[in-house]
Amino acid sequence: MSASITFVAKSSKALKGKIRVPSDKSISHRSVMLGSLANGVTNVRHFLEGEDSLATLEAFRQMGVKIDGPEQGQLVIHGVGLNGLVAPKQPLNLGNSGTSMRLMSGLMAGQQFDSVLIGDESLSTRPMQRVVRPLTQMGASIEVTEGGLPPLEIAGGQKLVGINYESPMASAQVKSCLLLAGIYAEGKTTVVEPGITRDHTERMLESFAYPVQKTGSSVTIAGGGELIATDIVIPADISSAAFFMVAASITPGSDIILEEVGINPTRVGVINILQKMGADITLLNSRNLGGEPVADVRVRHADLVGIEIPKEQVPLAIDEFPVLFIAAAYASGITTLHHAEELRVKESDRIQAMADGLTTLGIYNKPLPDGIIIHGGVVSGGQVDSFTDHRIAMSFAVAALGATGEICIRDCQNVATSFPGFIDICQSVGMDITSV
Ligand code: S3P
Repeated sequence: MSASITFVAKSSKALKGKIRVPSDKSISHRSVMLGSLANGVTNVRHFLEGEDSLATLEAFRQMGVKIDGPEQGQLVIHGVGLNGLVAPKQPLNLGNSGTSMRLMSGLMAGQQFDSVLIGDESLSTRPMQRVVRPLTQMGASIEVTEGGLPPLEIAGGQKLVGINYESPMASAQVKSCLLLAGIYAEGKTTVVEPGITRDHTERMLESFAYPVQKTGSSVTIAGGGELIATDIVIPADISSAAFFMVAASITPGSDIILEEVGINPTRVGVINILQKMGADITLLNSRNLGGEPVADVRVRHADLVGIEIPKEQVPLAIDEFPVLFIAAAYASGITTLHHAEELRVKESDRIQAMADGLTTLGIYNKPLPDGIIIHGGVVSGGQVDSFTDHRIAMSFAVAALGATGEICIRDCQNVATSFPGFIDICQSVGMDITSV
């Protein structure tokens, strides 16, 4: 891991400006995966040059794919076709990126060669049985540690057959893993989910002319098709925009515009939840960008109120809860979250990490097995830990905006996994934050 970085964030006056936050991480990963396996040359614009998506890119280079760039967000991927990857000479190191590991496990299970997927300290503690179990049902042969953790040792040359999988969890990573394995399987693979999750894989497969059938919460893919290269433009990441949605909402006088934000209906939980809390958020200039809906998002200060977060919004806002907890801390009244046990197995245990930090900052809260209760109040200064989780680090930077003292946030180096240039963008809208 790179050297430890501490953020020092202080209160600020009204936030103003027009910014484009970095591009969508989920879509960036998928552009490299599908572009690499397509026949022909795929041009990608606005690729996220964050450590996670770069780890995916590097892994495909190690499997013989020629990828030019990224140069100012542009990639040229010389696709090798579904059977054109070559055996990597060493384990594929996917760093901090759970998405790379879970999605690639499906792809690697369909190859003719063996592979090993490894990650950093945090990724090495993240559960992999959720993908290993159904892949094994499809005929894959994958070794994990006794506790179901990485590394993943994936045997090549296995015959995969399509399955009908009722997923016990609403997870786009599990769904995507199985759809990608389904490309290599005989027959049809169907995934049925208990809730709606992000559908970037399905959309991008269609952009690469690979048919998928969707009905309600079920999606089906047939094996043996072909991906045809295409051009991809990646929108700004709503998960990164979320920090500024909350920042502007809680800071009196603020009025900012977040440009070209992906507003895919499977990702807009953060907007729905904030609006329910009373936020002043307007979508301007809604349009389509390469198969994904985008809009410019205007956010003005508003007085927020605590709410009970609706269950159906949870998978639609799964990465945004850390910063939504900051909104809850600044809201009047009580905010309650349930049905979000998944937060405990993200890059950190996000319920405990946020509970600890909020307590340090004087905000009463009660962590629950599947969520948290937060009482809005006065946020004080203090020293908090990010537990090397990028989204915890950025959330506490936002928490400083109306705090009575400065907030020091330890171990913020992983902000670079999803949001390169975070400090500069914060400063450009008037936030007082530095890194040491
Ligand atoms: C992602 C899916 C989500 C999300 C992660 C990215 C994806 O995980 O938390 O940051 O790109 O498919 P789950 O699907 O496991 O909830």
